[in-house]
Parts: sequence; structure tokens; C-alpha cells
Amino acid sequence: MNTTPAGRVPGKVALISGGAQGMGASHARALARVGASVMIADLQAELAESVAASINEELGRKAAASVYLNVTDIESWEQAVAATVAAFGTLDVLVNNAGIYRPGTAETTTLEDWRLTIDIDLNGTFYGMRAALPELKKNETSSIINISSIAGLTGFKGRAAYSAAKWGVQGLTKTSALDFGEFGVRVNSVHPGSVNTPLTANLKRGYGQIPAGRAAEPEEISQLIVYLASDESRFVNGASIAIDGGETAGNNLRQNL
Ligand SMILES: NC(=O)c1ccc[n+]([C@@H]2O[C@H](COP(=O)([O-])OP(=O)(O)OC[C@H]3O[C@@H](n4cnc5c(N)ncnc54)[C@H](O)[C@@H]3O)[C@@H](O)[C@H]2O)c1
Repeated sequence: MNTTPAGRVPGKVALISGGAQGMGASHARALARVGASVMIADLQAELAESVAASINEELGRKAAASVYLNVTDIESWEQAVAATVAAFGTLDVLVNNAGIYRPGTAETTTLEDWRLTIDIDLNGTFYGMRAALPELKKNETSSIINISSIAGLTGFKGRAAYSAAKWGVQGLTKTSALDFGEFGVRVNSVHPGSVNTPLTANLKRGYGQIPAGRAAEPEEISQLIVYLASDESRFVNGASIAIDGGETAGNNLRQNL
């Protein structure tokens, strides 16, 4: 009997950092709905487990499991990768999604905030790749999806640490696309604009700079994650893909005189 689920990512196994809430939880659900098995890895272990349980209940199969992960700790990453392989037999897709943001310029950002942001957003991505690559290289095709930001595509006022980390993610992505292409591992970065999640719930943002005139819902970003996880994107490697309602296309506030 063929028990492989149908869908766009049939039988693929994905590990998603920061999957307990916000975009990570949405990506996990979207991937599972189209045939993947997903390991939801997060500092918030109980919340991660409740997301996994709700996906399993919705789909009526064991499509999701959860594991504690602190992305700043390489050993924690190694345990999360091992737990994924133990639960689902392999690892095909890594979504480096966990991230934080702290405000401040190069003058006002505290050293603590700088270090924490670089440690989670940039070092955490590197550790995840380091831990997952031995498994990913075993498959004919694998995909690493690094979540950057539009702050990793342009300058961003008052976001010195965040922007530096997210640009670093883009550089690590492009370099790794060159390093691992020959092993069948594609590495791409995704650069969301404004998305409605717990991370941004208390930010006062205007939308005039966005041609779409609004923020995205997480599900709108997840469709790009599904595409990059699937073999549909097999020739997409080293790309930095903006998904921002047009926010980085140009100056939307400039008057047409
Ligand atoms: N929301 C936006 O507008 C937006 C825009 C561009 C990029 N992003 C990026 O998208 C990603 C997801 O953002 P979100 O808005 O869903 O955020 P969120 O705060 O809603 O979720 C982030 C998750 O990461 C987890 N996390 C934080 N530190 C961790 C650590 N050390 N180890 C393991 N897990 C940790 C949190 O527990 C949380 O579940 C982040 O990388 C963020 O920088 C967000």
C-alpha cells in the first residue's frame, strides 16, 4: 500500500525553527496540508506541541511533531535534527524562521540587543544549516529556506542590528547556494515585508509605503515557502525573493507631479 501523502511536497520532511506561532506556525500548517511531515521547533515547547497537535487533528494523520529548540545553541540544533530524523526518517527541508527584532540605530542599540539579535537571527541560521546539512545532503533534492526580511534587502530606519543580521542571512544564503548546489541542496532567502504576527502586533506602522496598502497575513507568505520546499522550484537556487506587496519596488510615497 502506498502511504505517501499526495500534494505538492509528498513525503517531504521539514524542520521549521520558530514554528510555535506567527509565520512559522503558518508555514508548518501549509506544508503539512500539501503532503509534508513537519517538525515544529521552538523555545516555546508547549505552544509548539499544541500547534503540532492541531495540525494532526486537522489532517487526521501524524503529520506534525514538536521539539524544544534554542537556535543560539548548536547542540540544541543537533538534537532537533536528530529528533526529526527519529520521528519521520529523513530531513528534506530546513526553514530557518526563528527571529527577533530590537529597535535602535548604530548609536542607540544597546550592546545586549545587538548581540542577541545577531545571535538569534544570523548565528541561529548558520547553526541550523550546519546541523542540518549532513542529513540534507543525503537526499537527491533538498531545500534550505532562510527567512530574512526586506530589512535584508534595503536600509531600514532604526533597525541597525536587525538589518545587519538579515543582510548577513542573505549573504550566507548566496554563498551556500554556491557551496551546496552540487550536493542537490538549494539555498534561498525569503524577504517578507510587513506581516501580521505577534512580532509586529504592537508596532505602529503606516502602509503608505506599500503599494498593496496593507500588511500581509502569514498564509500569504506560506505559499512561497511551499513553492521553495517543493521540487517545483528545483531550478531556484541562491535567490533572494521579496514578498512585500511591492514595498521595495521603489518609492511609493513620491508624488506623481
Ligand atoms: N512579521 C513581520 O512583519 C516580518 C517581516 C519580515 C521578516 N520577518 C521574519 O520572519 C520570521 C518570523 O517572524 P514572526 O513575525 O512570525 O515572529 P514571531 O515573533 O511571531 O515568531 C517567532 C518565533 O520564533 C521563536 N524564537 C525566538 N527566539 C528563538 C530562539 N532563540 N530559539 C528558538 N525559537 C525562537 C519564538 O518563540 C516565536 O515562536 C522572523 O525571522 C522575522 O524576523 C517578520
